[in-house]
Parts: sequence; structure tokens; C-alpha cells
Amino acid sequence: MRKKIVAGNWKMNLSLEEAKTLVSELKVNLDNQSADRVAQNASNLPVVVLFPPYIYLTRILDVFYNYEGVSVGAQNCHQNDQGAFTGEVSASMLRSVGASHVIIGHSERREQFGEDDGLLAEKMRQALKNDLTAVFCCGEKLPERESGKHFQVVSDQLHKGLMWMEEKQLEKVVIAYEPVWAIGTGVTASPDQAQEMHAYIRSLIEDKYGSRAAESMSILYGGSCNAKNARELFSNKDVDGGLIGGASLKPADFFQIIQSF
Ligand code: PGA
Repeated sequence: MRKKIVAGNWKMNLSLEEAKTLVSELKVNLDNQSADRVAQNASNLPVVVLFPPYIYLTRILDVFYNYEGVSVGAQNCHQNDQGAFTGEVSASMLRSVGASHVIIGHSERREQFGEDDGLLAEKMRQALKNDLTAVFCCGEKLPERESGKHFQVVSDQLHKGLMWMEEKQLEKVVIAYEPVWAIGTGVTASPDQAQEMHAYIRSLIEDKYGSRAAESMSILYGGSCNAKNARELFSNKDVDGGLIGGASLKPADFFQIIQSF
């Protein structure tokens, strides 16, 4: 069965104190939830993945050291292993501090930092080489959707960014569909729009790698997903969870999203 995942992308937000408060509240909720689930003998908990800014990574990793069901990763990595790249952080450094995940190809990186498909493919290689699970983001802009090009855009991003991999490598990949027009705007894709694109993405994986790979790929939705709309979005058969921005900064909301399966 493929994994259900709720991931929190904090972006460039929170002071260290705020981050500590957020994770301690989250942990209390998760502890209570686990106790409840054990009592009910239920096991369908999603995996939670937190993506704090680099500078907080080791602190947050310490909080969740050996804590079942919570992983911690970075929002980006450099495409090289090491060297004279002032201000950058490599995938091997992430691995060395114990991070298990990395986001690659977020639309803010594509747009504001000029990261193109070729560069993102290099970053994917680095992530895999260092045994990180890569959360690869794809998604169309509003004019692309309005002109009916959204499937083509997403297909191109996936082919160039990751569909050069071997089937086995896909085990360390999660796809996040994040329509750019929905990110941070309060406008969410409708459950039908999300399901339609997720099913399409799964069909692309199936065409190239077969049904086993397609069935095991977790495909997350991102873009103004919140405590109110998560349940409806996650109830779609091809939506395996969410990559949550703004709502992941509010512990009660984020916890409610985690419980939305
Ligand atoms: P949002 O961001 O939930 O604030 O729209 C999602 C994301 O950018 O990953």
C-alpha cells in the first residue's frame, strides 16, 4: 500500500523560538493521537514530514529523533557535493545531519531562483545519490491552465525532472502536484481538479514504469490546502496527502490536516 504523507513546508518563516513552540505542540498532539490509535487498534496514520529552514534542521531532528512517523528534511539542496559554493548546502550535508527528505523543484525556486528542469534533474541525482527521499514538485501557472496546457506542462516537468530514473530509484521519490495559482493564494484546486491531475500523473508513471511503480508512488497535493479542505482533497483515490505551506505553521491546523484521512 502506498504511503499517506502530510508534509509541512515552513519556507522562510518562524524564529527559532517559534519553531520550537510549533514542534512541541505538534509532538504533544501526535503523542496523544498515537495513544488513541493504539487503543483503537487503528494503523492508517500518515507519515509526517517537516521541512524547516536549513538552520533549524538539527534542532528539529533532535526533537523527533527515533520518533516513529515523523521525518525531517530540507527545502532545497545544491546540485554539487561540496566545494566553493558560498551560502549553499549539499545533499550529502543534509544526509550527514540525519535529514531523510528534500524538496526539489518547488515553484518558488523555479520562479524566483531561476531553477530550470536541467538543474532540477541534477539536484534529483544528488538527492538519490545521498539516499534522501526527494519530494519533486510540479504544477502549472494560471495562464497555462487557462489555455488548457496544464497536462503538457506537468508532463514536461516530470519527464525532464525525474522520468529518466530507473524504476528502483522511484522508491525514493514522492511527487507533489502544486498548481502555482493555488500556492499561498487561498484559492485551492477543487477536489476534482486535483484528482484529475493526480490520476494523470499516475498514468504517466504507469506508461513508463508499469503499474507496480504507479501504484506505489505517493502523489501529494499542495496549494492552499488547509484544515477545512484537506479531508475532501485527501478523499480522492489518487491524492495521497499534502504538501502544506501556510497551514503547517499553525499547530492546531496542521494537526487537523494530519487527521484528515
Ligand atoms: P501553501 O503553500 O499551502 O501556503 O499554499 C504550499 C507550498 O508552497 O508547498
